[in-house]
Amino acid sequence: MQERIIQFLKESDGYISGEEISQRLKMSRAAIWKYMQELRAQGYEIAAVPHLGYQLVACPDKFLSYEIQSGLNTKIMGKKVIVMDTVSSTMDEAFRLGNENCDEGTVVCAEAQSKGRGRLGRVWASPKGKGLYFSLVLRPSLPLNQLAQLTLMSAVALAEAIESVSALKPLIKWPNDILLENEKLAGILTELRAESDQVQFVIVGIGLNINTSSQHLPPGANSLKVAAGHSFDRTEVFQAVLRSLEKGYVKLLNHGFAQIMEDWKKRSATLNKRVRITDSSGIIEGQAIDLDEDGALLIRKDNGLVVKKSAGDVFLLR
Ligand code: BTN
Repeated sequence: MQERIIQFLKESDGYISGEEISQRLKMSRAAIWKYMQELRAQGYEIAAVPHLGYQLVACPDKFLSYEIQSGLNTKIMGKKVIVMDTVSSTMDEAFRLGNENCDEGTVVCAEAQSKGRGRLGRVWASPKGKGLYFSLVLRPSLPLNQLAQLTLMSAVALAEAIESVSALKPLIKWPNDILLENEKLAGILTELRAESDQVQFVIVGIGLNINTSSQHLPPGANSLKVAAGHSFDRTEVFQAVLRSLEKGYVKLLNHGFAQIMEDWKKRSATLNKRVRITDSSGIIEGQAIDLDEDGALLIRKDNGLVVKKSAGDVFLLR
C-alpha cells in the first residue's frame, strides 16, 4: 500500500487531496494519514497542507525495491530486486539465489558491503549509501569459452548507462574497468557455476562509485559526484544500468558479439596503447593492437610477436 501511495504522490502534479487518495485506494483518510506518517519515518519528506492535501517533497536516499522496479520496463533485468542493508558481498547472496534456482535477471543490491570483492583478489571499497553495489543472476545460453563476451558487453552497457545519466564520457580499460579521467569509476566481476562445461548460471557483479566523496575513494578511483561536481539519484542511475544491461544482453544473445565488440573498441582506453600485462604466467609489455573474436586482448611485443591474453591485469604505459 505504501508503494501505491508513493506512486500517487509521484504522479500527481502538485498537491493531491486526501479525499482523492482515499477514494482511489478505497481506504479512510485516517488510514492514509497513518501511512503518510510511516512513509515520513522511512525518510520521505511529505508536505501536508489543509484543503490542498499532500505533496512529495523529497525521497530518502535509500534503495527500495519498488522504486527501482517502478517504470523500469525491462523484461529480464530486475524481474526480482532484493535490497539489503549491509552484506559481506552481494556476489555471495546472488550465488545462493542462483543455487536456489532463482529467475534469470534477479538482482541483489546492498547499501554497503563489508567484504566487497574485485577482480584478482582485490577489495572493492563499498561505503554505505554512496555507491551502487549489485549482483545479477544470468542464465545465458553461451558456451564457457564465450563468457568473456558477456563481461565486455556489461562494460559497454555500464559505460553507456553512465553516459545517459551524466554528461561524462567513460572509457573502458580491458577487460572491463570503467575509467573517468584515467581513474577507476566502476568495475565488473563475473563469476559462474558450471558443471561439465555446461553453464548453470553467471553472476555479474557491478560496483559503481556514485556519490562517494574524494576522501572515501581509494587511491586512483573516481566517482560520478567528484567528476560531475554534483550528487546523483542512485535509483535513477541503477535503473539506467539495468535497462542498458538488458539492451546489451538481448543484442548479444540475438545478434552475436560483433556489434558489441565495435562499441567496446570505440570506448577503449587500452587499444593502441603501450601496456604491461600481468597474469599467472608472468609479465609482458607491448602494444595493445586489437581484440580477437572472443574478446581476448592481442598484444604486439617489441620482438614483433603477437600474443593473446584472455585474462590479466593491464597497466597503461602511454
Ligand atoms: C573489479 O573491478 O575488480 C570488479 C569490482 C566488482 C565490485 C562489485 S560490487 C558488487 C559486487 N559484489 C562484490 O563483492 N563485488 C561486486
